[in-house]
Amino acid sequence: MSHLRPAAIVLAAGKGTRMKSNRAKVLHPLLGRPLLDYALDALDGLNTEPKLVVVGHEAEAVRAAVGHRARFADQTEQKGTGHAVMMAAPQLEAFEGPVLITCGDMPLLKNESLARLLECYPDSPLCFLTAEVPDPGSLGRVLRDDSGWAKAIVEARDCTPDELKVNEINTGCYCVDAKLLRELLPRLDTANDQGEYYITDIVKLAVADGHPVQAVKLHDAEEALGVNSRADLALAAEELRRRINHQHMLNGVSILDPASTWIEPGVMIGVDTTILPQTMLQGNTRIGEGCTIGPQTRIMSSSVGNGSVIQNSVLLEARTEENVNVGPFAYLRPGADLGPGSKVGDFVEIKNARIEAGSKVPHLTYVGDAFVGPRVNIGCGTITCNYDGKNKHKTVIEEGAFIGSNTSLVAPVTVGKGAKTGAGSVVNRDVEPGTVVVGVPARPLRQKSSTSP
Ligand code: UD1
Ligand code: MG
Repeated sequence: MSHLRPAAIVLAAGKGTRMKSNRAKVLHPLLGRPLLDYALDALDGLNTEPKLVVVGHEAEAVRAAVGHRARFADQTEQKGTGHAVMMAAPQLEAFEGPVLITCGDMPLLKNESLARLLECYPDSPLCFLTAEVPDPGSLGRVLRDDSGWAKAIVEARDCTPDELKVNEINTGCYCVDAKLLRELLPRLDTANDQGEYYITDIVKLAVADGHPVQAVKLHDAEEALGVNSRADLALAAEELRRRINHQHMLNGVSILDPASTWIEPGVMIGVDTTILPQTMLQGNTRIGEGCTIGPQTRIMSSSVGNGSVIQNSVLLEARTEENVNVGPFAYLRPGADLGPGSKVGDFVEIKNARIEAGSKVPHLTYVGDAFVGPRVNIGCGTITCNYDGKNKHKTVIEEGAFIGSNTSLVAPVTVGKGAKTGAGSVVNRDVEPGTVVVGVPARPLRQKSSTSP
């Protein structure tokens, strides 16, 4: 009886020499996630069990990055793709059914394409994905017989001049019956130009045993892109970005210049939001409905409420509620939390601070480790002096307070409800509600007595 669930082996032990990097190739980031994550995504929904990743180069780092999504097989010495599969095979000793073999460096491969491969099983006990490309270069060539069945995959360096002319290439994705795989693996040899065990040789071996082997051509050759260099990584990013932007536009988001807009896969955007040019939305950012974001804005792992406008600004792990106005040139750091209808203007930095509804921090200000109540106005050049060289201290500005231009608020300090500080004051003691303080250090303002001479 055969399993309905396929097993999967993802080859990811290779060194990736052409990346010229100390980092494993499959851990290079692509739109904020490791390359290998995309290979695992392609298996999502196919119900694979187990999902085995063959690791070698930088194995510990690879395990740490995707350990929650897969199991691992070690290939300590990289003796070729066939050898890599051999290292995973012991974990499938008792498995019956189809085994998907894919590469960790093919981020554009779609789930649907692997599903197409699986459909060939069990009619074909072995099938693999191919692509028709104009410039097949160093890729393995697919040889078919007169009826279109696959005969062999020949690596470019082992091809005859005639074989080199073939434009159909092997993508490196296979679906093979587990039992057949167990029969064929011990028969692989290293009789090729590189002296490696090639998984591609299972095709000619299966054919020799009389099995029908199907070569399944991708509808879209772009999916076959294998990332070998940083230039390939940029090509992959361009295509993924195009797919993501397209999906957001279908969902009701206006993107004025998709070519300069970077939206990472985990980002959510509400309808009728407009994204202006040169904007990056990263991590698990959530943008509400009817917002205008950009131009030249970077938002990382933040949430922006409905109807907000964020221009020429950087937001990192920040949050805004609805109808907030940010920028141009604001920097919202982790813990910045802006209430409804509030405004943070030009050259303002906010860190770990709640700004309540309707409050305004319009220009040239630093607000850190603070609570700013509703309807507060903070004048230009105000600074919360939150750091004494050792510890951070909190500033509280209560409802309706008015902070004069260039005020220094030396924390810990509280400015009471409705209080005012004069321009240039240095406030190093709490200010009583409703009072006015001025000067350095700030003191309550005395009214001139009407009886004095
Ligand atoms: C392979 C195929 C080639 C195909 C191409 C598609 C073979 C012999 N050739 O060539 O037909 O056109 O992919 O991109 O399979 N890996 C290991 N251990 C190893 C060697 C490789 O895990 O010892 C992994 C790599 O990390 C990579 C994948 O296998 O994810 C493919 O290896 P790579 O060296 O890129 O194979 P190609 O020479 O490109
Ligand atoms: Mg490759």
